Amino acid sequence: MTAKLQWGILSTGRIAHEFATALAASRTGRLVAVGSRTRGAAEKFAAEFGGIKGHASYDALLADPAVQAVYIGTPHDSHVALCIGAARAGKHILCEKPLALNRADAARAVAAAREHQVFLMEAFMYRCHPQTAKLAELVRAGAIGELRLVSAAFCFNRPVNPALRLYNRALGGGGILDIGCYPVSIARLVAGAAQGRPFAEPVEFFGTGRIHPEAQVDEQAAATLKFPGGALAQLTCGTTMAKEIAVHIYGTDGVIHVPFPFHPGKPAEGPGRIILQRPDAAAEEIACGLVADIYAIEADTVGEAIARGELESAVMSHADSLGNMAVLDAWRAAVRVKYDGEL
Ligand SMILES: NC(=O)c1ccc[n+]([C@@H]2O[C@H](COP(=O)([O-])OP(=O)(O)OC[C@H]3O[C@@H](n4cnc5c(N)ncnc54)[C@H](OP(=O)(O)O)[C@@H]3O)[C@@H](O)[C@H]2O)c1
Repeated sequence: MTAKLQWGILSTGRIAHEFATALAASRTGRLVAVGSRTRGAAEKFAAEFGGIKGHASYDALLADPAVQAVYIGTPHDSHVALCIGAARAGKHILCEKPLALNRADAARAVAAAREHQVFLMEAFMYRCHPQTAKLAELVRAGAIGELRLVSAAFCFNRPVNPALRLYNRALGGGGILDIGCYPVSIARLVAGAAQGRPFAEPVEFFGTGRIHPEAQVDEQAAATLKFPGGALAQLTCGTTMAKEIAVHIYGTDGVIHVPFPFHPGKPAEGPGRIILQRPDAAAEEIACGLVADIYAIEADTVGEAIARGELESAVMSHADSLGNMAVLDAWRAAVRVKYDGEL
């Protein structure tokens, strides 16, 4: 049996806790250290997760020889600098979405990983779940005929509060980067599958949205995309509207509904599932296995790729991340959301 991949986590926030919890269920990895901006938070987190090592700075974690791979769970604005620091330190990287604030910065993270020959994947966890593989397979095989439209939404209602990173411009706040990245990502995946490829890039893009007057970041946004071959996508994200997270895929001969597209297989929701509706036929429910922590599946996807000596993931490649960032750039430009360094 090969030794488990030794993970260090950068940050002690909400998703860092989820990932640390998931690592306990990982087949391939184990948590050995955490790094925080403050000693107190590092020690508290370290105690919570079984006495792992707590570092009082991110640099100290990156210098820890026991750490082989890092999980970056900080706000968006710091992802690129931490990716570059991790690459220079020779650590493999799983970095939370979005990989950067924009495509140009994401390219710098990718270049650093390539230069230092470390693995880098943007943490789109849903790409690692068998439900997503099944979805792509169905579209690729023509289960709904010719692809015509992907409709994808990721919306919730979170009170506007400048203390939250979601509404903090300096941290890359706003819905497009935080949750709009998922509908963009799944539309590109499905459009690619229809053409037998891992993803596709839109040839036309129209977007609009509304900016919250105090937070000065987008609170609601919509986009329409056209892909090569003519398939369209209608995408929505919102942080001040009722919760709706769903994907519907329309073809010439059927419709696919994905009730839990981005967090499939949660114990509360049962196994991942896809509903296939063909005209004049009863809806067919396709179970997609695995009631498991999606972040543990993600950690194992990364662990297995690293064990094979790969530097990027087949389910979320560097080119896929850069393409996603380019669409997010276009969406933010349409809504007129810019961050300080971009002004
Ligand atoms: N894939 C998913 O399912 C998922 C879900 C949620 C979030 N995310 C992503 O994960 C990242 C973090 O989200 P989160 O919800 O975990 O955020 P959070 O709860 O606000 O935690 C962020 C953590 O980052 C560290 N940090 C570093 N610089 C900071 C700064 N200037 N201000 C505040 N905190 C800072 C802090 O840890 P220390 O004080 O210990 O340094 C903080 O606890 C985001 O990029 C988000 O898009 C992904």
